[in-house]
Amino acid sequence: MTTLLYGRPPVVFDPPGDAIQTSPLIPDSAALEAQDPGSADSVTIYAPPGVLERRYVLALALKALKVGGRLDVMAPKDKGGSRLGKELKTFGLEVAETAKAHHRRCIVIRPETVEGLDEAIAAGGPQIVPGLEAWSQPGVFAWDRIDPGSALLAEHLPAMKGEGVDLGCGYGALSIVVLRSTAVTKLKMVDLDRRAIQAARRNIDDDRAKVWWSDARILEAQGDKDFVVSNPPFHDGGAEDRRLGQAFIRKAAELLKKGGVAWVVANRHLPYEAELNAAFKRVRLVAEAGGYKLFEAVK
Ligand SMILES: C[S@@+](CC[C@H](N)C(=O)[O-])C[C@H]1O[C@@H](n2cnc3c(N)ncnc32)[C@H](O)[C@@H]1O
Repeated sequence: MTTLLYGRPPVVFDPPGDAIQTSPLIPDSAALEAQDPGSADSVTIYAPPGVLERRYVLALALKALKVGGRLDVMAPKDKGGSRLGKELKTFGLEVAETAKAHHRRCIVIRPETVEGLDEAIAAGGPQIVPGLEAWSQPGVFAWDRIDPGSALLAEHLPAMKGEGVDLGCGYGALSIVVLRSTAVTKLKMVDLDRRAIQAARRNIDDDRAKVWWSDARILEAQGDKDFVVSNPPFHDGGAEDRRLGQAFIRKAAELLKKGGVAWVVANRHLPYEAELNAAFKRVRLVAEAGGYKLFEAVK
């Protein structure tokens, strides 16, 4: 009996305890993409908020299910839940829909034929984004553009030297800039999102760079790095969580040697100053523009 799970549904939905986790946001999980077609008896999906990303995940789940297998999908009403039933019907499915705890839940028994799977998988899968000329994927942070915060950091970043870390590297936008400096000897790129990690591996062909699928907060730190660059996340599971960015700042300080430097960009409304001042010896506001602020912090 193969039971797959994607994400972490609230406990009111009684998620299966013995399922194989397939979320790209949970390091070391299995990949939904790697499941044999028609091999799963049931799949439970806590559907992601983006349309392309959600249709991609639903299509992969339907592909993995055996005929007669059960798909159980839920999403908050205001984060895609209200369109879930309609979206599933576009695959030519019969859908049983209910509402619970501000979510919509849809149950589908997989029929012999499902329409449009390949299109949904192609639209939501890894791709080279025109204009960006880089690999990325719907669901990855700012997947089809350069984030303005990262652009501000890239504009002001001097040539880095020695060994460094890109904390929350995404598809590699900042690392590409960092690696232009020939004085950089090693760069560790870390992100929680497997899709970002896979895109970054394709975007950066440089022996100095190593890409890690990991939660930055639990990264081992030896206090031996020369620099850290970061545009820290401030959302956890869809909700704003400033503690995440603050944890990134503390981790940046732990990673650095004395005199090492962190370049950190943040939305102007985020309260990172106290954390920066507590963790670093010297903090300088380098630039403020377009709703972002950029700091250089020396340990
Ligand atoms: C604001 S984005 C910056 C991405 C990239 N540096 C860029 O400039 O496009 C923050 C990144 O942190 C990642 N992230 C979120 N939580 C994380 C965690 N706990 N550990 C590591 N990375 C995380 C997100 O997946 C996202 O790619």
